[in-house]
Amino acid sequence: MAERKPLISGNWKMHHNHFEAIQAVQKLSYVLSSHDLEAVDVSVHPPFTDLRSVQTVIESDEIAIALGAQNCHWENNGAYTGEVAPAMLAKLNVSMVIVGHSERRELFGETDEDVNRKVKAVLAADMTPILCCGETLDEREAGGAAARVEGQIRSGLAGVKAGQVSGLVVAYEPIWAIGTGKTATPEDAQEMCGMVRSTVRSKWGDEAADKVRIQYGGSVKPVTAPDLMRQPDIDGALVGGASLDPDEFARIIAYRLVS
Ligand code: 13P
Repeated sequence: MAERKPLISGNWKMHHNHFEAIQAVQKLSYVLSSHDLEAVDVSVHPPFTDLRSVQTVIESDEIAIALGAQNCHWENNGAYTGEVAPAMLAKLNVSMVIVGHSERRELFGETDEDVNRKVKAVLAADMTPILCCGETLDEREAGGAAARVEGQIRSGLAGVKAGQVSGLVVAYEPIWAIGTGKTATPEDAQEMCGMVRSTVRSKWGDEAADKVRIQYGGSVKPVTAPDLMRQPDIDGALVGGASLDPDEFARIIAYRLVS
């Protein structure tokens, strides 16, 4: 069984201008211990306008935090007003890109096909996709959560090779838990993350299933992180609101210290 290093990612959504972003990353680097950063991979995903500034801080201060983006287009150039290309992100040393977040799907009409194109484009630019999946409350109450999420994984990763699936990240984020303060119970989150891993196993094989990292996302807080992170199929967290405050985010990253 492969050792999977935990990955805790901060999705800042549409928060923090570039000055605030610089301060947040610097503060995070002061409050995190080198021990934290050895035990856990950490990424931050600021808005596009902050990326160059955050890149400069991370590189000049040699901070061991990965730079991430929240979205991208699937083409590398063209007449796509308002879009940002994977190659442009890679040029800023962005190494991880969130793809198919439920807010992009629900508010901006991203389809499973769009998400699949983006996953492939991110991989082609030598970056790591964080593929988001998750069901609505209606789908959960109707007993359709597993089918919905399995469908998102199969279509989001269609045509992606097993060797590439091994290196990527899936974030299970139940939509009813995002920004609501309602974290899924560790048992419910484990059940769904376990199902994601089984889906990967049946389609892409044992190696991909044992290596792919699966995050839970949805109202993760310092107090809920330890029990979530103890689950066998949860390898990390995708954190929204609580990642905006460096102290709070650092306490989530230090989840191992809470018994
Ligand atoms: P919250 O942690 O604010 O619920 O957001 C979760 C999320 O959507 C991360 O991508």
